[in-house]
Amino acid sequence: MQPIELETPRLRLRGWHDRDLDPLAEMCADPRVMRYFPATLSRDECAAAMARCRVHFIRHGFGFWVVEHKDAARFIGLAGLAWSRLDLPFCPAVEIGWRLVADQWGQGLAYEAAQAALAFAFEQRQLDEVVSYTSPLNERSWRLMGRLGMQADEAASFDHPRLPEGHPLRRHLLYRMSRDQWNDRRR
Ligand SMILES: CC(C)(COP(=O)(O)OP(=O)(O)OC[C@H]1O[C@@H](n2cnc3c(N)ncnc32)[C@H](O)[C@@H]1OP(=O)(O)O)[C@@H](O)C(=O)NCCC(=O)NCCS
Repeated sequence: MQPIELETPRLRLRGWHDRDLDPLAEMCADPRVMRYFPATLSRDECAAAMARCRVHFIRHGFGFWVVEHKDAARFIGLAGLAWSRLDLPFCPAVEIGWRLVADQWGQGLAYEAAQAALAFAFEQRQLDEVVSYTSPLNERSWRLMGRLGMQADEAASFDHPRLPEGHPLRRHLLYRMSRDQWNDRRR
């Protein structure tokens, strides 16, 4: 089953091809991009992540899409939706996430991709809620959550269960958006 493609004025969100591994590995080896993740990723780790994305699409009909700039059909990152099954009170939940190559930041492209993913979640899949979470240190990411109209759930801030105590990225902020909130913003 081929993933549904999404289109925005500047972007195409599409399924994964084997040729995406090279630019994915390059992006995930960049310390600027991976600053708020525990570590950069090796090529093998990227191949495994890409395989997990493909399986997620097959199982659920959505996932993290490749974000391609329509100009030159260039790979510029990934964005999309995934089931989060952390051992936390708000899970299971569908999470929205994003990662773009650094030279594409600051143009509203992550916002554009995320809007398309949220529209898909709420209008095509009729999901009740989408969440997003990140370290308080990752200001670009939580500012994006706010710009999208997601609401910070301060009482639900949490320590990431996969990071050890004392790790600087362990604390996480949780943002949420319900289908009603999405529909209210579209009115
Ligand atoms: C998080 C990330 C995707 C945000 O990218 P971004 O480009 O800052 O996000 P947006 O698409 O919302 O763009 C916002 C910026 O574009 C500017 N912009 C320009 N044109 C715009 C437009 N048409 N619409 C909206 N914003 C626009 C905004 O003013 C803002 O600029 P600023 O950063 O100088 O304030 C990016 O920093 C990234 O990939 N980080 C590494 C991976 C990561 O940490 N992922 C999140 C893990 S939780």
